[in-house]
Amino acid sequence: MRSHLLNDATAEQYRRSVTEGVERVAARIGTTDRPFTGVTVDALSPRVDGIDLDRPLHDTAAVLDELDDVYLRDAVYFHHPRYLAHLNCPVVIPALLGEAVLSAVNSSLDTWDQSAGGTLIERKLIDWTTARIGLGPAADGVFTSGGTQSNLQALLLAREEAKAERLADLRILTSEVSHFSVQKSAKLLGLGPDAVVPVPVDHDKRLQTVALARELERCARDGLVPMAVVATAGTTDFGSIDPLPEIAGLCEQYGVWLHVDAAYGCGLLASLKYRHRIDGIERADSVTVDYHKSFFQPVSSSAVLVRDAATLRHATYHAEYLNPRRMVQERIPNQVDKSLQTTRRFDALKLWMTLRTMGADGVGQLFDEVCDLAAEGWKLLAADPRFDVVVEPSLSTLVFRFIPAAVTAPAEIDRVNLYARKALFASGDAVVAGTKVAGRHYLKFTLLNPGTTPADIAAVLDLIAGHAEQYLGDSLDRAS
Ligand SMILES: Cc1ncc(COP(=O)(O)O)c(C=O)c1O
Repeated sequence: MRSHLLNDATAEQYRRSVTEGVERVAARIGTTDRPFTGVTVDALSPRVDGIDLDRPLHDTAAVLDELDDVYLRDAVYFHHPRYLAHLNCPVVIPALLGEAVLSAVNSSLDTWDQSAGGTLIERKLIDWTTARIGLGPAADGVFTSGGTQSNLQALLLAREEAKAERLADLRILTSEVSHFSVQKSAKLLGLGPDAVVPVPVDHDKRLQTVALARELERCARDGLVPMAVVATAGTTDFGSIDPLPEIAGLCEQYGVWLHVDAAYGCGLLASLKYRHRIDGIERADSVTVDYHKSFFQPVSSSAVLVRDAATLRHATYHAEYLNPRRMVQERIPNQVDKSLQTTRRFDALKLWMTLRTMGADGVGQLFDEVCDLAAEGWKLLAADPRFDVVVEPSLSTLVFRFIPAAVTAPAEIDRVNLYARKALFASGDAVVAGTKVAGRHYLKFTLLNPGTTPADIAAVLDLIAGHAEQYLGDSLDRAS
């Protein structure tokens, strides 16, 4: 069994085995003609259930054959130009090289004595990101597993910085379309059930600053403590960017921590054309960035950044076995001092390889391309009488629905759209997402693939319309 451990004696076997796996994936990626096969849970479950984990195959090729059967063939492929659903990006090859390296070396980024150069690389990327944001000389941060964790950590720091006698008095003000991880964080942080105050948005799904000012006043009047304002730079559903300068102004006026959730919009930090859309982000106290959304990085790759490095002390604990207090005096850089995690992947290496190979402009160019594609998609949808489209995109998301010519009942329009999405998924021809707007069902394209063309968008709209019409025809048949 020792032959399976990677060491000096097995380096050649490691090379062969990983190459074999890469060959299989490359073969799949090279030949998938649809983002999904449309496999059902009922069809796939027995194949997975039928595998006896206590009877190993002892042969890499056989294991890969089996993997093809239970996973690779039927996976949902984000690299396909007609995968238009969630915030999943196709990934850049330099990052995949980084992934292969980091998992083989298997550094753990909690302490210097488990990572050495890995710690320095992560710290340099954090500095690079805070400089791109413009957070100033005292800024710092740490890589996390994703936007949910980044938001949680930022709000933990905000809670600790807030001066409140009782947790129940703390409030987080955020737009009604911000990410649900804000609510989840409030719960995890022990805040009361009313802690998250939803602030209305305008027609473009951007937080209304007049309403925010009203809520801040209300808190002051009622003796409540606004612990943080969470502004979103790229909402999950609409890609809308809250008015950051105005929000920052209000936060400064009321002395409230400003967290900017740029999980999605962070790609603009590298943009050559649209960086100005997130102007004001430099006034935040903390920022979430998800490189695994708009920097074309494999999951996981995210960071939380703070204006004042000292605030990260709220996540610091010293354990004798790992990061004893004396190491701070010895100036030994232990990233665990800043992190909610202990053992932690060297995810930063993927971004490092990306920047060292392609450069930030290369990443920014890719993100600009998907923003431009969304603008084209908006024009197509706005000109198409079959569809109603919600918000002109600030990033790369389009929310719309099919409006049947002969149907006016809102519940029936909902059913048509739900059916069309489901049927499209089952066909595997394209994958789109869905959401609700004002209580009604809509469809969503999240465009993160520069390989998607306006012709792809037009073709997917035709497919949706085709499924919708099929549903309407079937329901007429059912009624007659
Ligand atoms: C605006 C925003 N914030 C946070 C998150 C959570 O990020 P993650 O899925 O990486 O935890 C998302 C995910 O879609 C998001 O869109």
